[in-house]
Amino acid sequence: PLLSQDHKETGSQRQDSRGGGEEDCTICMEALAGPSGYKGPGVGGISRAESVGRLAQCGHQYHLQCLVAMYNNGNKDGSLQCPTCKTIYGVKTGNQPPGKMEYHVIPHSLPGHPDCKTIRIIYNIPPGIQGPEHPNPGKPFTARGFPRHCYLPDSEKGRKVLRLLLVAWDRRLIFSVGTSSTTGESDTVIWNEVHHKTEFGSNLTGHGYPDPGHLDNVLEELKAQGITEEECLPRD
Ligand code: APR
Ligand code: ZN
Repeated sequence: PLLSQDHKETGSQRQDSRGGGEEDCTICMEALAGPSGYKGPGVGGISRAESVGRLAQCGHQYHLQCLVAMYNNGNKDGSLQCPTCKTIYGVKTGNQPPGKMEYHVIPHSLPGHPDCKTIRIIYNIPPGIQGPEHPNPGKPFTARGFPRHCYLPDSEKGRKVLRLLLVAWDRRLIFSVGTSSTTGESDTVIWNEVHHKTEFGSNLTGHGYPDPGHLDNVLEELKAQGITEEECLPRD
């Protein structure tokens, strides 16, 4: 189960270091012992308006109403991420538009990786019309700089990153639609939260090699999206 609920009457189970069950809900910043401060749309009709939900795995607690509001404000993909510790419940997916991801090995070495060849990933996303999961549904979006070429060392760790990126692609987490921080253009395809190296032999943009920490950084960023090596293994 996602939640274990306790009601405000059972405040003794929620005592914090201040000793009196005075914890706040960090979604609405109001006391957990009182009502949710959330008054946005989509939270009406909740009968247990004053109850608290405890996330089953990490144990962090919020007003149940606040959790519902947070879910409804997101892309409603059946997953929920704890705003405190980022634990993901369910499978997180994104709003990456349709397109293609391809990769192959090229017989050259990247700066900093002299002992192996290179994996080149090619992403191609055409412009289109935004869906209900995008910021402006029905409005067109642009797609600049495609095909975008990205590089990984063809090492054991590089191949692991590639496997996880393939999962991220299937879950629509590599790109998003929004405002580019580089160009300022809105309603365009942008990189999501997983960094890619788009330069091969040089590092003019800061998105090139050498960068000794890159693969570990990407693994961390993938983990924040709920994608780890365990995700690639069959589960029952
Ligand atoms: N290569 C790789 N990553 C980049 C690049 C780049 N050239 N430019 C920005 N990023 C990273 C940023 O560090 C940030 O984390 O992508 C994230 C989102 O940045 P935006 O500028 O919003 O993304 P986007 O508009 O998609 O990228 C700008 O990247 O690949 C190129 O052709 C693309 O010129 C465009 C540039
Ligand atoms: Zn948590």
